[in-house]
Parts: sequence; C-alpha cells; structure tokens
Amino acid sequence: MSRTAAQVRSDFLEYFRTRAGHAVVPSSPVVPHHDPTLLFTNAGMNQFKDVFLGTGTRPYKRAVDTQKCIRAGGKHNDLEDVGKDTYHHTFFEMLGNWSFGDYFKKEAIDWAWDLLTNIWKLDPLRLHATYFEGDAAEKLEPDTEARDLWLRYLPKERIHPGNKKDNFWEMGDSGPCGPCSEIHFDATPGKDGGKLVNAGDPRVIEIWNLVFIQFNRAPGTGKLSPLPAKHVDTGMGFERITRVIQGKTSNYDTDLWMPIFAAIEEISGAKAYRGKLDDHVDIAYRVIADHIGCLTFAITDGARPSNEGRGYVLRRILRRAVRHAHQTLGVKGPMLCKLVPSV
Ligand code: GLY
Repeated sequence: MSRTAAQVRSDFLEYFRTRAGHAVVPSSPVVPHHDPTLLFTNAGMNQFKDVFLGTGTRPYKRAVDTQKCIRAGGKHNDLEDVGKDTYHHTFFEMLGNWSFGDYFKKEAIDWAWDLLTNIWKLDPLRLHATYFEGDAAEKLEPDTEARDLWLRYLPKERIHPGNKKDNFWEMGDSGPCGPCSEIHFDATPGKDGGKLVNAGDPRVIEIWNLVFIQFNRAPGTGKLSPLPAKHVDTGMGFERITRVIQGKTSNYDTDLWMPIFAAIEEISGAKAYRGKLDDHVDIAYRVIADHIGCLTFAITDGARPSNEGRGYVLRRILRRAVRHAHQTLGVKGPMLCKLVPSV
C-alpha cells in the first residue's frame, strides 16, 4: 500500500479522531519556552506534562497530534547519528495519541495493532513488541500486563523483554515517566530479524513507542513517586512509519526529503543524491537536509544560534551544515537560507 507522507500523517490523526474520539490538537513549539528542564521539545508528551503531574487540565481526555521534535541535546540526542545512518534525525515529527487518566494499556495496544495491520496493512509477521522487564534497584515490577496483552496478537518469540534504557521512558532527568512497550518493524528478507530488535541495525527499527505514564521522577533526588492517575503517551516516528509504508529502506528515500534534496542539488550543482551510506556527497545531502529542517523550525519557533544552551546547540548544527555545504559540496557563498522554502 503506497501512501504519501501527507496521507500517512492524516491517516493517523483521522484514525484516532473518528474511531476513538480523540481531539486533534496542534503541535507545541519546538522550543519549550516554559520548561527550563528541556533544551528542546523532545517528545509529544512535553506539552502535556502539567496534565500528567495533575497540576493542569485540558477540555478533553483523549488527544491526537503530530509534534515537532528536536533531539539534539540533553537526554535524547541523535545528533551524532545524523548523516551516517538512515533513520535518525535532529528534527522530526512524532505522531502521538494520548489518554489523560482515561483508557490505558489494552486500548493503546489494540488501536496500535489495528492501525498498523488493518488500516496500513503492514505484514503482521514483520512486527515485534517489547515490554519492560522490571528493575530491582528502582523496585519496578516487570510489565507482564503489556506482555500478556501482546500475546493476543503476537507469538511469544516476537515479544521481547527490555531493560530500563529501552523500556522505561523518561523525558529528561525529571518529570512524568513510566514503562513502555515499543513496536519494531522487521525488514529482513526472511522476516527473521528478532535478534536485531534494539541492536542498532537499520533493518529492524522501532516505529512506535507506547508509554504507560504512571510515575514522576523528582528533580534533584531522582526519586520515583506514583502519579495521581495513569496515562497513555504514544510516540510514532513519522519519518520511520512513512518509510515502512512506502516500502523504502531509508527514511531519506521517502517523499518527505525529495524537495529538499532537489533544492540542494540545484543550488550546489552537486551530483544527484544516490542514497549511499559511505559516500561523502550523500552524507552531506543527509546532514544538510536534516539540519536545515531543524534550524528552520527552531528559529521560526523563537530560538537563535548563540554561544550558550540551546543557542549553542543550534550554532553547532548550523556550522556543521555550512561545513558540509562548503567543504563537501563545494558551494561558495550562502546556501542554507536558499533551502528554507523547500523545508
Ligand atoms: N514519549 C514517547 C517517546 O518519545 O518515545
């Protein structure tokens, strides 16, 4: 089934709006102006932190959105992978559905399975799920409830326990958090990539993370305490699911990046993008395309390159994009500003 990226985005929003009564809400800015614990918005749940903590409310109990995210500093940082691989970005969109003290694990898992296999018709034999194996030091039990819910859809060989690093989601050093259950897509020819789940192999990638928010980690002490209610926070990598649905092996081979690559080629006069992982020109295309997206959204949402904090992260990103444009593609003079319309 081939869908454009724009169709994939609207499929997601419409599924949760029409089938399960979710309010469609806008993305928050990629710069978290009111949260000093974060450099950038790193997940869809950031804008709902007050609801999870019980200090704020919204006029709905279920929401769906696509959130602009930057993971280029702080706890979640993918900056060093950009350009070298096919599926990490500093700037990306995260599709998410949310329950604020309303539905919990069963509904989140049922709807995820339905959307992936019945609406988008992904091959069920290529799907794996993970669940939290527990952590004795933090007195956290294994999430056997999530495991058992998955057993209704998947054989036990494709349900994998995972440790705190992979299966206990936290937005930063403090804040709302909880065990999570990830869905991975196996693109190996023999559909036998079980051992590659969470192994950093591009053939088996995480596509969707279902987080069951139940705790708050206190600033300073790091102590976990239960929240007043239980919530669902899911995050699906929009660029990744688009790649899977379009049957590509790289996020950069989807229609999301074509306009930016075309603009880079036209402005630089470089040879066309060929998608090779070890080719300096192709690496430069990926770095520049990723970084101009990040810079455009960050600056539009109110950040500025500078010499401290988030501004310094942006300055490093800006410098790296300029270096690839000048040194690798041989561009003389300004180039990045000319790419903004393609973003
Ligand atoms: N909050 C879910 C995720 O970022 O994976």
